[in-house]
Amino acid sequence: MSILVIGAVGQIGTELTAALREKYGGNNVVASTRKTAFPDEILRGGPCEYFDVLDKEKMKQVVKRHGVETIYQLASLLSATGEKNPDLAFDINLIGLKNTLDIARECGVKKVFWPSSIAAFGPTTPRENTPQRTVLEPTTMYGVTKVAGELLCQYYFLKYGLDVRSVRYPGLISHKAEPGGGTTDYAVAIFYDAIMHGKYTCFVGPNTVLPMMYMPDAIRGTMQLMDAPAEKISVRTSYNLAAISFSAQELAEEVAKLVPGFVCHYQPDHRQKIADSWPKSIDDSQARKDWGWRHEYDLKRMCKDMVENLKKKLKK
Ligand code: SER
Repeated sequence: MSILVIGAVGQIGTELTAALREKYGGNNVVASTRKTAFPDEILRGGPCEYFDVLDKEKMKQVVKRHGVETIYQLASLLSATGEKNPDLAFDINLIGLKNTLDIARECGVKKVFWPSSIAAFGPTTPRENTPQRTVLEPTTMYGVTKVAGELLCQYYFLKYGLDVRSVRYPGLISHKAEPGGGTTDYAVAIFYDAIMHGKYTCFVGPNTVLPMMYMPDAIRGTMQLMDAPAEKISVRTSYNLAAISFSAQELAEEVAKLVPGFVCHYQPDHRQKIADSWPKSIDDSQARKDWGWRHEYDLKRMCKDMVENLKKKLKK
């Protein structure tokens, strides 16, 4: 059995690759990136490959050479970066996905995972307890690629029988690899700045509430979805997935309890508008019912774990 993680040095990929290697053995999990260097931990842990998701031939060679049976396709430009370069976001997020799905079909790959996001929702979506099936009219290119990508995943399942599975991740908070270019990045940056400088200037206002999740929950949930029997998967677009919702101010108050003297200032920028177009809380009862999803980390426990781990990492 061979697994390929595309986008293995990103915020999710770094931890998912490690978790899959732990479970299935290092040699059975191929890490890939289009960037120039892998962190040592990934390089030492098992096979590594370099390719761009837009280079279909190279991707195909890697899938064939390693006899890949499962692909986690995580390569993506996030919401804020996507607004700076919408054409590239379209190509990487959507053409990259289509290339992956086509190669999966052509090479007999058995399962594909692809992440969608709360960014698939938009200003016309009900914002509280957002249902699984609801209005999807996002206003960012990132969101546009997520909605189209979800439909593409479902299409490949219905038309070709390809076992594609997906979740709509909330904002993800983690201490290993930093996120890059997302709207929810403030919920990670606040910890780094609190520990390093005792203060943080937040780019969304104090009352901004978004759905969030701690990375260990996200990794466990992703692997649980991929392990579930196919007949349990009733959603072939993408599952709503939720853990905790809190305002920027509630987060800052929790961080201040753990980092004495911490002060948070607020200076909303262009990302405020993106945040305001997304839900505040998500109804994920379908995922809970179908394959037993449940989160473990609440705000308090997550903050404690983040601060402990980042203090070690930043030697503070
Ligand atoms: N965390 C992502 C972003 O902020 C949302 O999926 O872009």
